[in-house]
Amino acid sequence: MTDAAGRAPVIRPYRAADHDALARICLLTAAGGGDATGVYGDDTLMPEVYALPYVEYAPDLAFVVDDGGVVGGYVLGVADTADFIDWYAREWAPGFRRRHPMPAPPTTHRPAYTEAELIADGGDPERMRIAELDAYPAHLHIDLLSRYHGQGLGRRLIDRLRDALAQRGVPAVHLGLDPANTGARAFYERLGFHELASSRPDAPLLGITTR
Ligand SMILES: CC(C)(COP(=O)(O)OP(=O)(O)OC[C@H]1O[C@@H](n2cnc3c(N)ncnc32)[C@H](O)[C@@H]1OP(=O)(O)O)[C@@H](O)C(=O)NCCC(=O)NCCS
Repeated sequence: MTDAAGRAPVIRPYRAADHDALARICLLTAAGGGDATGVYGDDTLMPEVYALPYVEYAPDLAFVVDDGGVVGGYVLGVADTADFIDWYAREWAPGFRRRHPMPAPPTTHRPAYTEAELIADGGDPERMRIAELDAYPAHLHIDLLSRYHGQGLGRRLIDRLRDALAQRGVPAVHLGLDPANTGARAFYERLGFHELASSRPDAPLLGITTR
């Protein structure tokens, strides 16, 4: 895809001005790869768990797709998940818990990942302490708006993050994914990610070396 001036989207480092676009893309891709707008009582929940803490903690390991000034997707990483867990517990979880008290049980629509589960995860960084952390210390999240799929941008984002991690001496990176997101799983496997030993059918975990 090219913009009006014929330029193809580029991958560039995250900037503070991308903050709101990042939150929006997170929300628009958070329901198994599709739009999660209105799924939870508060649309800020998903980005506050799965996007914004990452750019607060490690803005230098975030890269975006820039399409003529419009942000179309991102990859977010942390090099040392154990250190991120400590930071999250100290700096992020207290404010998150204040902003997001536990909701009443849903009376109508009940998503597979309930609001109560999402809020509990947002306040509990220990969920990120997987058994393979020594070998796979980094982890990542990647999301592209649907109009940018299938153009090799996901592969380029992952490559960019792997290079940045390798430059820091990080040997390998992992990620967790929604078991219903079969398209994302096919993408990761195509790129060479493999299943980790502690992966479960209801909570898949994949990993790859950085080089
Ligand atoms: C998953 C995602 C990041 C993939 O990005 P993308 O830019 O569409 O993927 P690419 O075009 O770089 O594809 C890279 C390779 O993966 C393959 N691939 C990508 N999506 C695939 C799919 N759904 N099924 C099978 N193969 C797929 C491509 O064919 C390509 O193979 P090739 O390089 O040999 O030609 C993107 O679709 C996305 O953001 N989806 C919504 C959010 C999401 O699900 N995020 C992941 C949460 S865990």
